[in-house]
Amino acid sequence: MSVRTPRLPRPRHAGRAFGAAAFTAVAALAAATLLPTSQAGAAGTTLRSLAEAKGIYFGTAITQSDLNNSALTAIAGSQFGMLTPGNEMKWDTTEPSRGSFNFAPADRIVSFAQANSMRLRGHTLVWHNQLPSWVSGLPAAQVKAAMENHITTEATHYKGKLYAWDVVNEPFNEDGSFRADAFYNAMGSGFVADALRTARAADPNVKLYLNDYNIEGLNPKSDAMYNLVKSLKSQGVPLDGVGFQAHFIAGQLPSTFKANLQRFTALGVNVAITELDDRVQLPATTASLAQQASDYAGVVNTCLAVTGCVGITQWGVGDADSWIPGTFPGYGAATMYDANYRPKPAYTSSATALGAGTGPSPSPTPTAPGGASCKVTGAVNAWNTGLTEDLTLTNTGPSTINGWSLAFTLPAGQTVTGSWNASLTPTTGQIAATSLSYNGTLAPGASASFGFQATHTGNTSLPTVFSLNGTPCATA
Ligand code: XIL
Repeated sequence: MSVRTPRLPRPRHAGRAFGAAAFTAVAALAAATLLPTSQAGAAGTTLRSLAEAKGIYFGTAITQSDLNNSALTAIAGSQFGMLTPGNEMKWDTTEPSRGSFNFAPADRIVSFAQANSMRLRGHTLVWHNQLPSWVSGLPAAQVKAAMENHITTEATHYKGKLYAWDVVNEPFNEDGSFRADAFYNAMGSGFVADALRTARAADPNVKLYLNDYNIEGLNPKSDAMYNLVKSLKSQGVPLDGVGFQAHFIAGQLPSTFKANLQRFTALGVNVAITELDDRVQLPATTASLAQQASDYAGVVNTCLAVTGCVGITQWGVGDADSWIPGTFPGYGAATMYDANYRPKPAYTSSATALGAGTGPSPSPTPTAPGGASCKVTGAVNAWNTGLTEDLTLTNTGPSTINGWSLAFTLPAGQTVTGSWNASLTPTTGQIAATSLSYNGTLAPGASASFGFQATHTGNTSLPTVFSLNGTPCATA
């Protein structure tokens, strides 16, 4: 079996803002955390390996209970190279009462990441939310000591284990003023510098970040973050990056996203997309998921276009574990995987933006050597106005198929509204169903199953002729 050796990430940190020492450390860390060779071959087109080949990472967030979901953990551990605990490193979990620390939940997530050779993003040390009431109830004079002790204890516990820390999360209001939380009220804006210095003292090598939402485009809030970063850098406060949460609404990616990231990297900090999701109004439609796919590709392309954008983390693995439906009623379907952990169009568009299909392996060119070398079986499940169709394509030839595109004609009145495990275009008439990044390779005898959902006006029959690259397949 031929195993593809992963390429070293292309350095993206060289340049005037980043010294040689910093670059060496980043490259060494990236090299040390690449997939073991045996996994890399099997995972040749994962988001993780595609991102690493471009010199960035693709991460996800999971919570403790997610560890019991085998479909979720299988994807998290193979498709993603960076992991953020969704809740377990927050103050309410780690120091629920003063001086009494609990790292057990986060430690489980750290172990999962280590077992899967993933890097880790610590989230978060200082935040107004998920903050126990004992902190917000402290007399102002005691807040600084409590904050410093919290940072020192937690950052020391994870010293050497994390790639980055979101040291301060969400310090700003929408108008760019500081949020009047316990920390600001007690210490003024100086709490940010104090938190960063305290974190640096506890862990000299972890990347220190400030993180916020609605700062992706040019606006008063991102201006405030920009001015803060500029001021901190000019004072020599330790700060390595800014995290852009990127909780987007489909179709509303800011047009100034790239220009905004670039003004931050020009200050000498890295930037990262830390909590990406792209919510759509429920129920999701073919059109809204197509918009989402275009948004995801836009985020990937933006990060790739900005030197100093180190990676992208999606907030959650799939729609079933996403925080969106619980927080934004009427919205959901915000991730790259559907409620059953099947990849959505946003997965394909992200992989494509990361260069899937353009590398040396696997070949993007559909090939079916040996003439009629395929078989298609199918089943329909119809109701009054709708149907689902499950199709299985089998390679009956002697050679491996590297990427397939199966052509067939939909009976009149049928219109595709959704699909899984293949990309279907257009939605009526003569259709091409094309393999996705993960199911294009069919060894002799191997099968791929895919399907679609359609509306109909009475005719619920299956297509009669299927052809692979112009050659009809046998039907059972
Ligand atoms: C969210 C979690 O996903 C939820 O499980 C929790 O109930 C609330 O917090 N910005 C952040 C994240 O920085 O920590 C938040 O995570 C989402 C918004």
